[in-house]
Amino acid sequence: MRTQVCIIGGGPSGLLLSQILHRAGIDTVVLERRSRAYVLGRIRAGVLESGLTDMLRAAGVGDRLDREGFPHGGTQLAAAGRRFRIDFEKHTGRKVTVYGQTEVTRDLYAARDAMGGVVIHGAEGVAIHGADSEAPFVTWVENGTETRLDCDYIAGCDGFHGVSRPTIPESVRQTFERVYPFGWLGVLSETPPVDHELIYANHPRGFALASMRNEGLSRYYVQVPLEDRVEAWSDDAFWDEFRRRMPQDVAEALVTGPSVEKSIAPLRSFIAEPMRWGRLFLVGDAAHIVPPTGAKGLNLAASDVNYLSNALIAHYAGEGPERLDGYSADALARVWKASRFSWQLTTLLHRFPDQEAFGQRMQEAEIAYLESSDAAQASFSENYVGLPYDRVS
Ligand code: FAD
Ligand code: DHB
Repeated sequence: MRTQVCIIGGGPSGLLLSQILHRAGIDTVVLERRSRAYVLGRIRAGVLESGLTDMLRAAGVGDRLDREGFPHGGTQLAAAGRRFRIDFEKHTGRKVTVYGQTEVTRDLYAARDAMGGVVIHGAEGVAIHGADSEAPFVTWVENGTETRLDCDYIAGCDGFHGVSRPTIPESVRQTFERVYPFGWLGVLSETPPVDHELIYANHPRGFALASMRNEGLSRYYVQVPLEDRVEAWSDDAFWDEFRRRMPQDVAEALVTGPSVEKSIAPLRSFIAEPMRWGRLFLVGDAAHIVPPTGAKGLNLAASDVNYLSNALIAHYAGEGPERLDGYSADALARVWKASRFSWQLTTLLHRFPDQEAFGQRMQEAEIAYLESSDAAQASFSENYVGLPYDRVS
């Protein structure tokens, strides 16, 4: 079997890349280890930057997003029992869209099916061969039989635990990491959101976030110690803790109900450099992880897809290898900036185990500065709605 671009991983990065390339006349095969139902069952991101929504529309997958997504022109921050609003629209002229990652993935699978895109599920033992040669190929086992796919290029869209990043030799690869000493306990509940906007709360007991998916589906989080087990958190215990960390009016307005999903996610910042080795390109979580504060994970995966799809399209149009050569530098420049924002917001809003009263007051002072300064709000807004897809190469 042969294709032009072999894409490893059928999450949002891999599917969006294959959709864009296919529409540009470039042949792809997507290899996904899990079943489609498993991929669609993962509750993850919920806030999309305009760069991503523009890409989805351009890729022919924007109809349901435009009908069912919720544009948000601002967000709220809470601390010391009060809250205030940051107006993205005023500062940047742009909004974000609340639309779940599960919905994005569902739309992408529907679009791939409609175009006859090849997505192979249940691909076990995927291995990359000759990525630094002129003739790379990928092998995997499907229903007990080994299959080989020859290709021009390989896109490693296989997430943090995939095979693509470790294929780059350690002598070439550099990694940068910060593991945070807490996690997020998240609850999805079929209740109306407590507010029409997201509320990020700093509280001496720890961070809390009120988010949503639609008018009847809410997503709430509280910071928890890393050792906590999700089974030990009853729904009632979650709601009590969430209420304690929100300003009183929010706590009083909260409508609670049974959780339909509950999980704990650890927080880390991680970046691998370079994002290209020979004919292998890393995309999305395969190359970098951000802590969820600020909702940058999925949006960074999308900006990588933007750089790589443009570079491959230019290459196959005969424009030479310059853009492919610049992929790693272009993608990483934006990754570092978004990682900085996620790290800063995580540091500002969470309670650290060794934090004394001074640290708490510093956070409250910085939040008060954000409330009072137009310049600080403009900077926050510019980062939150998403930095431009600039190129440095
Ligand atoms: P993934 O979504 O991880 O997709 C990779 C795909 O590759 C998977 O389908 C996987 O099964 C497949 N795969 C892996 N290994 C192999 C292999 N060896 N062979 C073949 N296929 C393979 N971001 C936000 O912005 N906001 C959030 O609230 C948020 N919450 C999150 C909560 C959790 C628990 C996690 C883990 C992430 C969260 N993120 C969030 C991050 C966001 O979901 C990711 O950044 C996004 O999913 C990245 O997309 P991706 O396609 O690069 O990787
Ligand atoms: C969500 C997650 C985030 O990390 C965030 O900053 C905003 C929203 C969410 O899952 O809805």
